[in-house]
Amino acid sequence: MDEKIIIFDTTLRDGEQAPGASLNEKEKIEVAQGLANLGVDIIEAGFPISSKGDFEAVRAIAKAIKGPVICGLARAIKKDIEAAAAATKIARRPRIHVFLATSKIHMQYKLKKAESEILRLAVESVKYARKFCKDVEFSPEDASRSERAFLFQVVEAVIAAGATTVNIPDTVGYTEPQEYGSLIQAIKNNVPNIEKAIISVHCHNDLGLATANSLEAVKSGARQVECTINGIGERAGNASLEEIVMAIDTRKDIFPGLTTGIKKNQIYKTSRLVSRLTGFAIAPNKAIVGTNAFRHESGIHQDGVLKERSTYEIIKPSDVGFHGTGLVLGKHSGRHAFIERLKALGFHLEKKQLEVAFERFKQLADRKKNIFDDDLMSIVEDQIRAVTPLWKLESFEVNSGTKISPKAIVRLKKKEKILQAESQGDGPVDACFKAIDKMTGTRGELLDYRLEAVTQGKDALGEVNIKVKIKNQVISARGSSTDIIEASLLAYLNAVNKHAA
Ligand code: KIV
Ligand code: ZN
Repeated sequence: MDEKIIIFDTTLRDGEQAPGASLNEKEKIEVAQGLANLGVDIIEAGFPISSKGDFEAVRAIAKAIKGPVICGLARAIKKDIEAAAAATKIARRPRIHVFLATSKIHMQYKLKKAESEILRLAVESVKYARKFCKDVEFSPEDASRSERAFLFQVVEAVIAAGATTVNIPDTVGYTEPQEYGSLIQAIKNNVPNIEKAIISVHCHNDLGLATANSLEAVKSGARQVECTINGIGERAGNASLEEIVMAIDTRKDIFPGLTTGIKKNQIYKTSRLVSRLTGFAIAPNKAIVGTNAFRHESGIHQDGVLKERSTYEIIKPSDVGFHGTGLVLGKHSGRHAFIERLKALGFHLEKKQLEVAFERFKQLADRKKNIFDDDLMSIVEDQIRAVTPLWKLESFEVNSGTKISPKAIVRLKKKEKILQAESQGDGPVDACFKAIDKMTGTRGELLDYRLEAVTQGKDALGEVNIKVKIKNQVISARGSSTDIIEASLLAYLNAVNKHAA
């Protein structure tokens, strides 16, 4: 039997700490469900003491998500531990994760505490957390820059106090693989009770080494890896889940006898979900999940792949749930073919969602000759996330050009009533948004706007992802259409509807 590497996902905690990545409670639950479907072992759902919103979101995830352990983060402070315990206690398997810095820099400048005081607090906080929960993780923050002798002492003491996992964070992404591997090895050799706890690693990507460092640590005996989807996280991000999982899986010769519980064919879908909801685009050349990760441009490569896939492909794209842009459906495809294709892509929609998605597919097929898998995924993801809209787009007209001031007329349907507004703007998209604002009484501030073609070709589906601030609430929303003004309008209307829901 292979030995399992525990995958601890911190997309919703460290990932969400990335500037601009904030998610609302509903979106967090959606990500958590995606992570559970992906098969992660532990979901670090948030930092409950940090805000009321975070507390409620962790609690909602602990209540709704079955399968993974649900973890809440806490400083080595009683009220933090109490909040983490209260937020996670409803989970079938809760975990409290306590952290306290052990490096000289942090102890001197940030905490202003001596080593003896840090040691005492670490032990007391783990003992306190154990009063609420039998699964307690301790992280000596900035471990990779801590004095080794002191680090060993803290790790030994927290294990004796009841920590079941000890995490060794490379908080500022400073270490390099050989050094980090030797640190893990040294912990194994110098902490007498280390066998009583799981060694975990948590790497940041400031030098672009987070994945390499995590893998080196696994080679040295770490058995839990903390990571995020698409590698999002503080500053340059965290180690990327998909890279770690696929490296362990692809290089069985380097990682013999090791495995993860991740359902690889869910990787691409989960990556897209996190990208959409956080508004963080995935670089085309991002390993495993970038749109170019499996594209072969040069003739020599294409020829090689056609003759034998493994000449230039080390991973079969479908293994990670990437089905490329192969032509699948068209105008004459029926409901059965549509449903079958969705099943092949791993989507199981409820009857009502399926009806609406099929209707959208038919409308798209009238405008676009070839419907690709990515078009289908775009349509379906819209349906899964759709809120029952208060306002629906009825029609719109825009007038724009080099010598005229852009103007839009937008008609919306609210229940059975048709509303109409006209507005000018800095561009046709701005004019449309302003017209929507007039009818809905909203004053949305556009924080981010991203337009992408879902597939190739002039008739490609345009997908617009936006972030809008409405009355202090930051909302991510999306719209897609073969018309980019319509896609923008739908995205904005989606945000307004989400706010109203
Ligand atoms: O990077 C870090 O040190 C952390 C800890 C809270 C584990 O995120
Ligand atoms: Zn971190």
